[in-house]
Amino acid sequence: MTKSTILPLALSGLLALQPWLASAATWNQTSSFYGQDFYKWDFFNQTDPTNGLVRYLPLANAKYANLTYAEGNTFVMKVDTVEQALDGRQSIRISSPDSYSDGVYVLNVSHVPLGCSTWPAFWTVTENLDNWPVGGEIDIMENANDEFASNLVSLHTKSSCTIPSSISDQTGMVAYTNCSAYTPENTGCRVEMNGTSTPTWGTKLNMAGGGVIAMERAMGSTGSGVRVWYWANDQATLPSDLKSGSSSVDPSTWGTPAVHFDVADNCHSDFGPHKITFDITLCGDWAAQSYISSGCAATYGACSSQVAYNGSSYSEAYWEIQGLRVFATGGGNDNSAKSPNTHIATTSGSAKVSPFLVGLGTAILGLAAATLA
Ligand SMILES: *[C@@H]1O[C@H](CO)[C@@H](O)[C@H](O)[C@H]1NC(C)=O
Ligand SMILES: *[C@@H]1O[C@H](CO)[C@@H](O)[C@H](O)[C@H]1NC(C)=O
Ligand SMILES: *[C@@H]1O[C@H](CO)[C@@H](O)[C@H](O)[C@H]1NC(C)=O
Ligand SMILES: *[C@@H]1O[C@H](CO)[C@@H](O)[C@H](O)[C@H]1NC(C)=O
Ligand SMILES: *[C@@H]1O[C@H](CO)[C@@H](O)[C@H](O)[C@H]1NC(C)=O
Ligand SMILES: *[C@@H]1O[C@H](CO)[C@@H](O)[C@H](O)[C@H]1NC(C)=O
Ligand SMILES: *[C@@H]1O[C@H](CO)[C@@H](O)[C@H](O)[C@H]1NC(C)=O
Repeated sequence: MTKSTILPLALSGLLALQPWLASAATWNQTSSFYGQDFYKWDFFNQTDPTNGLVRYLPLANAKYANLTYAEGNTFVMKVDTVEQALDGRQSIRISSPDSYSDGVYVLNVSHVPLGCSTWPAFWTVTENLDNWPVGGEIDIMENANDEFASNLVSLHTKSSCTIPSSISDQTGMVAYTNCSAYTPENTGCRVEMNGTSTPTWGTKLNMAGGGVIAMERAMGSTGSGVRVWYWANDQATLPSDLKSGSSSVDPSTWGTPAVHFDVADNCHSDFGPHKITFDITLCGDWAAQSYISSGCAATYGACSSQVAYNGSSYSEAYWEIQGLRVFATGGGNDNSAKSPNTHIATTSGSAKVSPFLVGLGTAILGLAAATLA
């Protein structure tokens, strides 16, 4: 029972008249993206910073190859299925033109990319990629080689921010507790969303028509840190404020989240303005390292051979998105982000990725991965 339910009727009526109190957890919608809106996102066209065997295509080339298309509210981005791809397989990585900080991010997804060698992600990451991990990273949907039956949610930070090994107010299970990007495997702190029967990844999710995933980032003094919920795409069970047409959301009504990283107090300064990103890389720093443990090597031999010679194995390697909404104002007066990094930035001032610096960063990560292999 919450405090408000035991308030005398008169007092609770009074509170209802005071929006600054009554709407403490409410966030208002500030942006939405459907179908062709994603053509206005930045199509990353440089070498994959995570060392994947992909060639990320500019928009025009991606459209020409029909690896991206939009139809109504639907937006699709795919890996090339041409049989041979000897210098890296064509794929897509896109980022939002604007940066966002605290808020609620709601994705309606009808298909997640699957298959051996794939390492897809829907994530938010510092707009200054050359300074990563300064500014941080929040991975909202991620998997590699489909090794995990459920979706993985992780944070990567500059400082050694940590989460407890057991978290009572979430349904997911903690896999790693240290969020630092400098741990040997750079796993970040990670929760596996395997505490419910609703599929959150894999063929089951795609067969069910996907679902809705919501991430709240609230780093203010009364913020809850990072929380993630997931619902099947079923209008009957979806909270009413997530149905299309609503313009505000109140996560306090959504029940126990799948993931709760209670990091607002200790780690708020690790999170700066973020770009929202979707990508599908192949092999690279994670999926190549776990190719054997995932069982993929038994089918295809080496990760690089699958990429080079087996285009037909990528028929399920695509994102199909039905819309993304961002609710970035509100969350309560006392919840304005307290991090010096967390102001809403505009596109114009954002840093461009320096391939040299990114290469340097990944060389360090690559070295760390190599010491494990
Ligand atoms: C590659 O990306 C950069 C940065 O977004 C952009 O300025 C450039 O036009 C892109 N190149 C092509 C060929 O689209
Ligand atoms: C692109 O691929 C989709 C899905 O296979 C198909 O429906 C569409 O007709 C294709 N578009 C073009 C221009 O080939
Ligand atoms: C759920 O995830 C946790 C953390 O990764 C893992 O230890 C556990 O084995 C998983 N449980 C099942 C049933 O997959
Ligand atoms: C987290 O990892 C970093 C980098 O390896 C390390 O410096 C730090 O001590 C770790 N934190 C904890 C609590 O183990
Ligand atoms: C998700 O997209 C599907 C297909 O467009 C739609 O039927 C459904 O209502 C959407 N769900 C939400 C919560 O917007
Ligand atoms: C591609 O992989 C499939 C298994 O998914 C296998 O049956 C087929 O022989 C492979 N093709 C080539 C050209 O290696
Ligand atoms: C959210 O929207 C409501 C209704 O339009 C409005 O009254 C309220 O002031 C908005 N709150 C913020 C923080 O923008």
